[in-house]
Amino acid sequence: MPTATLNGTELHWRDAGRGTRAVVLLHAFPLHSGMWSRQIEALAATHRVIAPDYRGLGGTGGSPEPSTMALLAGDVRALLGHLRIERAAVVGLSMGGYLALELWRQAPGLFTGMVLCDTKAGADTAEGAAGRETFARSALTQGLRWVADQMTPRLLKPVPDAAVVTEVRHLIGEGTPVGVAAAQRGMAVRPDSTPTLATITCPTMVVVGEEDGLTPPAEAEKMVAGIRGATLARVAGAGHLSNLEQPGAFNEALTRFMAGLAS
Ligand code: MLT
Repeated sequence: MPTATLNGTELHWRDAGRGTRAVVLLHAFPLHSGMWSRQIEALAATHRVIAPDYRGLGGTGGSPEPSTMALLAGDVRALLGHLRIERAAVVGLSMGGYLALELWRQAPGLFTGMVLCDTKAGADTAEGAAGRETFARSALTQGLRWVADQMTPRLLKPVPDAAVVTEVRHLIGEGTPVGVAAAQRGMAVRPDSTPTLATITCPTMVVVGEEDGLTPPAEAEKMVAGIRGATLARVAGAGHLSNLEQPGAFNEALTRFMAGLAS
């Protein structure tokens, strides 16, 4: 898997497919680009698929500074510049959705389309941000097994498939405590993207697992109402990680949306 030093960090990404149309997949916290394996497989026949790891997660080098959405969007733009990709559809799940909205603010001309999955537009409350700081400190002292114990039940539907639990714990285990803490601290200071929704002019689909407890369907409906022409795909039998819990239904919605985009 390729790596390069870009934007001051050793960036790692997955690069598949040879299509002339590109798609960028932005992962959830605290996983890495490996969570997209089934989507990469589904899209690679028709698209060039790029899926980066964020700082300190997966194979990308970490640093203690907060992984703000602005910093990570700079990493993604540096990567696309390195790969000479000027236009792409951007798909983000949860933290990846926060990042997609920041990327839209920084580089709207990049987007051929946008897919916002199991995410929300609002910023953290003061209480939510304080909780992230507590989590960040615990991750640094207690390690990734503790992170997996905390996060896995929140990321999946109330009665999850055992194989998906194992996969999610494995993906979390390939990060670093420093990367987990940096991501929490970066998300804690992310801006409110609600005003951004009305500025979105590219074709947009919002996807939500019907059993998503972290960013429930009501959040998805609010985003759809705020983005002109956006459509909603609800995924039955899925929690927050709808792409992992119901890859068949998720991929059907995703590939249909991608097929409808202009190149
Ligand atoms: C994620 O799935 O990326 C996180 O749960 C997002 C968050 O903590 O807000």
